[in-house]
Amino acid sequence: MLSPAAIGKAILDHHASLIGADLSVKRVHDAHSLVKNSLDSVAPDLKLYTFGSSTVFGFHEPKSDVDFVALRQEDIVDGKGGDSTSQLAKGLQTQVLAKLAASVRQKNVQWAVEEVRRARVPVVKVKAPHIDFDITAHRRNGVRNSALLRHYLTQVPENRWLSIAIKSWSKRVGMNGPVGGYLTSYGFNILVVYYLLHRRRHEQPEVEQKEGQDGAASASVDGKQQKELTFIDKDTLDVSLIPPIPEYLALEPPNPETLGEQVLDFFDFYLSRFPMESHVISLSHKEPITKQSLNWTKTAEDMKNNTSMEKVFYRLCIEDPYEVNLNVGRNVSPFKFDLMKKHFVKGRATALGLL
Ligand code: CTP
Ligand code: MG
Repeated sequence: MLSPAAIGKAILDHHASLIGADLSVKRVHDAHSLVKNSLDSVAPDLKLYTFGSSTVFGFHEPKSDVDFVALRQEDIVDGKGGDSTSQLAKGLQTQVLAKLAASVRQKNVQWAVEEVRRARVPVVKVKAPHIDFDITAHRRNGVRNSALLRHYLTQVPENRWLSIAIKSWSKRVGMNGPVGGYLTSYGFNILVVYYLLHRRRHEQPEVEQKEGQDGAASASVDGKQQKELTFIDKDTLDVSLIPPIPEYLALEPPNPETLGEQVLDFFDFYLSRFPMESHVISLSHKEPITKQSLNWTKTAEDMKNNTSMEKVFYRLCIEDPYEVNLNVGRNVSPFKFDLMKKHFVKGRATALGLL
């Protein structure tokens, strides 16, 4: 049986390059000015925002892509508004992205620029020499959900390491990716935050809950104190109050033992405590919610899959905080769901495959 300290140490060794490395956001800033430059020549009234979980912490992970979104003044002023999913809205996004793509191509001839029009969210994908990035238009949800994750993960900054560890493991074992994958990094980050918020639930009643000095509750796990997160009402996140380029936040090394404990407990939570068959992983509600209450049932799954081309599953249910009726785990078929559980068992036993 691996000790938490050994697990934490293995994770830190694996990510040694993130500690003390140049994680500067210079490349993000450079890419931002180049895209802004192209944007100014086709739609000067649009403002360019940066989001995504590592960028939103103000650092650039070498292997991660960066997300940009071009927002209209009206999107920013109505910073708590929902994004339209109508064909008309998508058509307008596609139009502005086509102009932007043409300008990016013309100004940077050596870059690979691909327009993806038919996706749920139209996007321009760019591969530049040292950085890959996606550009979308008129959509606030990515900026809001990234800021929501940032707010959660900065309540207890050490928790950022759990997110880094789980995301990187999900990529190593082939579970991460929109196509053929199970979940995106975004999905894994919601799993991490939900775990941190709800890990005290379904536990023995004798666990003491105390109010920490900084306001975050802390709970005793095996005699040790772990700080608990405070629920954030997702509707309070307002694009007009979020900076277009997130502020840099240095990544401090964590206590290896705490990190190891968290990794073990993350797996225990999803393998045995969280009622995966009946409940939804959601940051939208303070209290647990059921699949039944969202009508995310086997019957709904069958009805959808009889009528639409894209298969949707309600096995692993993760409610998107801002999209209406969207399961972030919709690609997880019953087969993948079983495999995922096996990956979780193995990840727990092998320190995320590192020992
Ligand atoms: N996003 C989203 N809905 C999804 C997937 C992604 O809104 N179904 C948005 C989220 O704002 C997320 C951002 O796109 O923060 C980037 O997603 P993703 O690439 O999955 O996560 P990253 O944190 O950028 O991780 P990676 O390092 O793998 O690129
Ligand atoms: Mg990304």
